[in-house]
Amino acid sequence: MESFLIKGGVPLHGEVTISGSKNAALPIMAATLLTEEPCVIRHVPDLSDTRFMVQILASLGATVSFEDGTLRVEARKISDYADYDLVRKMRGSVCIMGPLLGRLKKARVSLPGGCIIGARPINLHLKGFAALGAKIEITGGYISATADVLTGNSLFLGGRAGPTVLGTANIMMAATLARGVTVIESAACEPEVVDLATFLNAMGAKITGAGSPTITITGVEKLHGAEHEVIPDRIEAATFLIAAGATQGEVTLRGARAEHLRAVIDKLGEAGVGVERQGANLVARGLGALKPADITTLPYSGFPTDVQAQMMSLLALAPGTSIITERIFESRFMHVSELARLGAEIEIEGPSAIVKGGKPLSGAPVMASDLRASAALVIAGLAATGETQVNRIYHLDRGYEKMDAKLRQLGARICRVEE
Ligand code: EPZ
Repeated sequence: MESFLIKGGVPLHGEVTISGSKNAALPIMAATLLTEEPCVIRHVPDLSDTRFMVQILASLGATVSFEDGTLRVEARKISDYADYDLVRKMRGSVCIMGPLLGRLKKARVSLPGGCIIGARPINLHLKGFAALGAKIEITGGYISATADVLTGNSLFLGGRAGPTVLGTANIMMAATLARGVTVIESAACEPEVVDLATFLNAMGAKITGAGSPTITITGVEKLHGAEHEVIPDRIEAATFLIAAGATQGEVTLRGARAEHLRAVIDKLGEAGVGVERQGANLVARGLGALKPADITTLPYSGFPTDVQAQMMSLLALAPGTSIITERIFESRFMHVSELARLGAEIEIEGPSAIVKGGKPLSGAPVMASDLRASAALVIAGLAATGETQVNRIYHLDRGYEKMDAKLRQLGARICRVEE
């Protein structure tokens, strides 16, 4: 297994380009199953998650090529059955159910496992499919949804933690080929949902309201092929903005969209990291001493849960007490014990982490546990004195394209080594 070896204490300076959004690309890749005509998707990040989705599309019978960030898919004939092992290993693959149900009126996937950040149920996805007329069965670790006809319906998709992003994506995709009108109430408002709706409309779907809590889909007979460019990854951008602040550097992010990062930029300002728009770029620079800030993760446009761990690394450096409350997932504090190995003083109180910041961090070997926790450990290692080895970096490769190369471009002393 591979690790990152980081010699910290170097302020990051320079420019990097933000890659396409993983969380927009995955459902958009699944949406190409809705038509037998060829689709071209550009600005797809080269990650283990997107390469996994390429394998899943191919295992369903689609012809797929993926080179230099451009994905070409032709799903002329596809099966309703996705390889058990492939689907089980990546939670995001649950979003192939909507397109399969929409196009074939049947979908069968392995029950997506939970992961380290939470149980990750799909009850809301199934509620939506059933509202469109699908029969749901769970047998032998598989979940199947079948329907003679999909009929548009009005449904409330909010759950115990608010909207569901991939649940909204799944129902929206299935509803494009349903008979009649579907109205999704309490829909997710994330930019990735908007990007998916843009692609679906380019395919001939009739979707309005994406980005708002109420999305209306008027079913059509067929969808045709389309081309699309994926939006930049706002979580990658947030990660680099925070790394700039944690190392007291100055970093320019090419292609980052300020309008997708309002909550993050606001909190960074409170913590003493200035972020300003310069044309199509964002520039982050330390404004002197870091300051404590309180964070609560919320559905979009609130502070994103996918940036919680990275922000904790920054606030561990800010003299004073910061309180971070995680409202989306039930166990997304796996990074706390590893940050403590670098000298951070953090106590968990139920859904909150109390960060007593300001002690200097010093390098140590740490273990990545999930995608965003890995990013938090890299940020902490960049700010710590001495050497930090972040092990099991495969977690990070799921969602960050060439992170070590981009950080080296900014002057970081980081290299990838065999553990
Ligand atoms: C998407 O996951 C993202 N993944 C996650 O990013 C992100 O953290 C999450 O949205 C929240 O923003 C992709 O887009 C591939 P949810 P998703 O359904 O759609 C509960 C990353 O680091 N829920 O919005 O699976 C659920 O348990 C990843 O890039 C139900 O109760 O998340 C959670 O508490 C991690 N029933 C909350 O809703 C359901 O049927 C939000 O989950 C579905 C979800």
